[in-house]
Amino acid sequence: MSQRLLGTLSIDDFLQQHWQQKPLLVRQAVDVEEIDLDPGELAGLCCDTEAPSRIVIEKGETPWQMKIGPFEEQDFTSLPADHWSLLINDIETYLPELQAFIEPFRFLPDWRIDDLMISYATDNGSVGPHVDDYDVFLIQLKGIRRWSIDENPDFDKSLLTGPSLKILQNFDPNQQWNLQPGDMLYLPPNMPHHGVAVGECMTLSVGFRAPSSGELVQSWLDDIGDNESFKVRFKDAARKVQNDSGEIIQQDLAELKAVLMRGITESLPNLDSWLGKYLTEGKRPDPALLEAYANENYEGANQNLLPETNYQRFPGTRFAYTKGENELSLFVGGVEFHLDHHHLATVQYLCGEQEYLAPALASICKDPAILTLINTLINNNKFVLMEHDPCDQISGDYPSS
Ligand code: SIN
Ligand code: CO
Repeated sequence: MSQRLLGTLSIDDFLQQHWQQKPLLVRQAVDVEEIDLDPGELAGLCCDTEAPSRIVIEKGETPWQMKIGPFEEQDFTSLPADHWSLLINDIETYLPELQAFIEPFRFLPDWRIDDLMISYATDNGSVGPHVDDYDVFLIQLKGIRRWSIDENPDFDKSLLTGPSLKILQNFDPNQQWNLQPGDMLYLPPNMPHHGVAVGECMTLSVGFRAPSSGELVQSWLDDIGDNESFKVRFKDAARKVQNDSGEIIQQDLAELKAVLMRGITESLPNLDSWLGKYLTEGKRPDPALLEAYANENYEGANQNLLPETNYQRFPGTRFAYTKGENELSLFVGGVEFHLDHHHLATVQYLCGEQEYLAPALASICKDPAILTLINTLINNNKFVLMEHDPCDQISGDYPSS
């Protein structure tokens, strides 16, 4: 993919001046000519798989009606002629050729990248003016979309009451651009924006993740609730008589806080490991994808590395690693593998690539520890054969309206 992703800006300048701070419009940032997607193919995908999908109809049964996929053919044939959009998240998992749109953004760490979302809109289709919690690069794939944004940090945050979508009631844009195929708009989090299709169009969003403290605490507690360090109980041997039984006395409050803090403190040494697992955890694999990858050449689990065979990641599987003091931790889909520091180049190769060619695999697997790792990944369906195009098997073709 040839491109001038950030226009005249260097990556450093972009990170210093725009990332998380202010928008950037780049004309002809990305070469999109080779992408040949039609709305029928996207609709088919939302019927045949569990790809996370939504249809937003501005003037539906209720204003800004949102329907959640998977869909049936009837959902598409009953749509109005215009003012609606279809949005599909995690599209790179289902259409692996779109992974190429993520590659140029890998000057940011992989764990920070959330997903690719594709949207198809009919004339005047949009999801309404809104803010997102995350950074996003909006790449125009086909047709024209008119983007309006409001750069005023004190924008009116009131939302329309009624729609389940969060739509700004009083959007007051101060910038507007028509994006043509190949143009890209970067938006930092919390910037009001509204993208309206001018005729039919398709847009790809590269979305980033930045977990909130609430999300981190919640997920961490979900995972460590059973941990031994959380089994320590409040104790109050030799307590003094309490005349007013309604009071929670300061001494009890102090001990309760100590019990709480002890549980947290004692589990902290495992926090790096937990974060690595949390940040690479996958969603439940889509049965349609599992089936599509279990072709006749591949009998699924309990297989070891086949010689002279190319492999790839099971679509959507996240790889990342951390450098600990004594060892490396490789995280694959929420599972941790401990490796020695001298395996760094191999770990970097596994995390850097999506496809693993036979000669490279043969070379790294001369090391028995790596062979064991690769066999485990194969048996856990994290590594699959690379010899077919699963999308031919899962994507149907349905009329889009
Ligand atoms: C869209 O592609 O329709 C909406 C993307 C966004 O506003 O975040
Ligand atoms: Co948005």
